[in-house]
This record gives sequence, structure tokens and C-alpha cells, in this order.
Amino acid sequence: RTQPLVLGIESSCDETGVGLVRGTELLTNTVSSSMDEHVRFGGVIPEIASRAHLDAFVPTLEQALADAGVSLEEVDAIAVTSGPGLAGALMVGVCAAKALAVATGKPLFAINHLVAHVGVGLLDDRASGRKQELPENLGALLVSGGHTEILRINSITSDVELLGSTIDDAAGEAYDKVARILGLGYPGGPAIDKMARSGNPKAIRFPRGLTQPKYMGTADEPGPHRYDWSFSGLKTAVARCVEQFEARGEEIPVADIAAAFQEAVVDVVSSKAVLACREHGIKDVLLGGGVAANSRLRELTGQRCASAGIRLHVPPLDLCTDNGAMVAALGAQLVMAGVEPSGIGFAPDSSMP
Ligand code: KG4
Ligand code: ZN
Repeated sequence: RTQPLVLGIESSCDETGVGLVRGTELLTNTVSSSMDEHVRFGGVIPEIASRAHLDAFVPTLEQALADAGVSLEEVDAIAVTSGPGLAGALMVGVCAAKALAVATGKPLFAINHLVAHVGVGLLDDRASGRKQELPENLGALLVSGGHTEILRINSITSDVELLGSTIDDAAGEAYDKVARILGLGYPGGPAIDKMARSGNPKAIRFPRGLTQPKYMGTADEPGPHRYDWSFSGLKTAVARCVEQFEARGEEIPVADIAAAFQEAVVDVVSSKAVLACREHGIKDVLLGGGVAANSRLRELTGQRCASAGIRLHVPPLDLCTDNGAMVAALGAQLVMAGVEPSGIGFAPDSSMP
């Protein structure tokens, strides 16, 4: 049986993404971002994002089809992010996908953006063309602007189990807020990642949330937040630290603060993820989400997984941030698993779990 050719559409935030995959092979990943239009506001403005999707969708679709050298008629199925995300932004992609499905008669699959972030790890290795050999005990570490979660993937198409998550801010959100405090602009993740390279991560010690024994408990008697994270206290600690330098009239050591903040995030994300995997017999972990582009997170999580005998599967950078290829990749998994299409009656769900 030939592998299904699937078109994936992503519009949950400020990226208009159209990707094409054939089975587990990536054909193209075309992204148009409205990031530049949000920069002066210091965050994504939903109304602007929705309008930008409307402008960008058709050109992005045409570009993707041209890059892959396929026509719309050849596509076997269409997949679209139906949540979570910005309601108006989701609506543009979902309506576009429904219109395409009706016009072409192709089956349509509604996709959970978060599962797609980790499902992208199922694509073949681009450089070598090597197939992903994914065993039974599979986990996923999802670290994005909206979520920080450690998951057990019993079945990527039907059974994804939450082992732990943030109880307040997501890791990416903490990056964005701290970047703002440090005057590094938006988006904060890449800015802090870069700034941290010239700083000393040991210059300041910032708190690691939910690591006290009362939250952790033991392997036999887990505490209430053994595999959970909290980043709001860390953000407050950074703000206090900056205030103290200001009060003393001293220059703010931005690079050191960025490096120490990043170390605090990456330390607790990687240590709790490895702990959850060890205690659940997980041997392979897919890393996903925008913060998976972070150089230090990739490095330290890789080291800690290796020490624990866990294989960490890290997607290439352009597949970590929001894109259509991840939606197509998960759509192809659904087609190959024989899952029924969603039809065109579904509505976008901005707070999809
Ligand atoms: O997955 P994503 O593109 O959108 C969501 O679904 O949230 O993630 C965006 C988040 C933002 O918070 C951004 O600051 C963060 O990912 N991010 C990074 C890096 N690149 C993007 N955080 C840390 N280091 C990076 N290199
Ligand atoms: Zn995302």
C-alpha cells in the first residue's frame, strides 16, 4: 500500500503553516509568520494574527504545493489544527481546511496542536532518510509557549497520558516574561537563549519550583507535584533581582541573569522529565514545542537522558516551533491507523486539553 500524501494546516497562533508529508516522509514545510507585526506590542495580538492568516493562507498553500511538486488533486487527506490556540486564528485555518475539503472531496482530520508538536518526532530523519524506530515505552516532553508537560504516549493516535505539567506559567511564557523584564524584547525565548551564551549561569541562584520534599515525596509515595513544574515564582525572583540592582544604582548584569534564569528552567524541566520517565519505564522520549529549540534545554536534557539510559529524540529546529508539517505528520499517522476522518462539522476549540 502506498503511503498517504497528507496536507497539514496550522494557524493556532502567529504562524501560518502548510506542510506536506507522505507517510513518515517530510516533503515540505512552508511557514509565514506575522511575528514582525506583533513585536512593537510585546506579544501576539489575536486580531492582527487572524487577519495575517487570512492574507498568508493562499500564498503559503501555493508555495507548499509548488515546493513539494504536487497538486491538490494528488493529496489523500487534509489535516488542520483545531485547538488549542487563539480562537480567531484557529478559525481561519479551520475554515480554509473545510473549504479545501469540500472543494476537493478529500477527507479532513481535526488535529490537536499539542499532540502534533510531539508527533513531528515520528517523521523520518531528514538528513539520513532513516525511519524512526519507536518502541513501546514512549514518552514526550512538550515545552512550548502555552504548555509544559511530560506525557506517556500509549498510542499517538488515541491514547496520550499526562504524567506531569506546569501548575502556572508555561516555560516559554516564563522566557517571554523574563525577556520583557530584562528589556530583551519579544519573542523572549530566542533572545534569552542568545544572551545567556555570554553570561555566567552560576552568578545568581534562582529557585527551582516544586522541588521541595513535601512536593516531591518518594518514588513509592509520590508527593502531590512530583512530576509538576511551577515557573511563576522564578519569574518573580528575576523581577526582584533586577529591582535590587536598580535600587543600588548598579548596572543590571543582563547576560548573567539570563544565563541563571535559563539554567533554573532547563535544570528543573530536564530533571523532572527524566525522573518521570525513569519511574514509568519510559525508554524513548520525543522532545517537542517551541522551547525545544532552546540550545541549553537540548544539551542538558540530552545529557541527563543519556545518563539514565533514555533515548531523547530531538526534532530539527524548524520543526520545533509552530508549523504545518507537524499537523500533516500526525494526520498521516491517523490515516495509516485507519482512524475515521473528522468530517466538516467540528468547531475549533481554543482550550482543547
Ligand atoms: O510551540 P510554540 O512555537 O508556540 C506555542 O504553541 O506556544 O512556542 C513558542 C514559545 C515562545 O514562548 C518562545 O519564546 C519559545 O517558544 N521559544 C524559545 C526558543 N525559541 C522559541 N524558548 C527558549 N529558547 C528558544 N531558543
Ligand atoms: Zn505550538
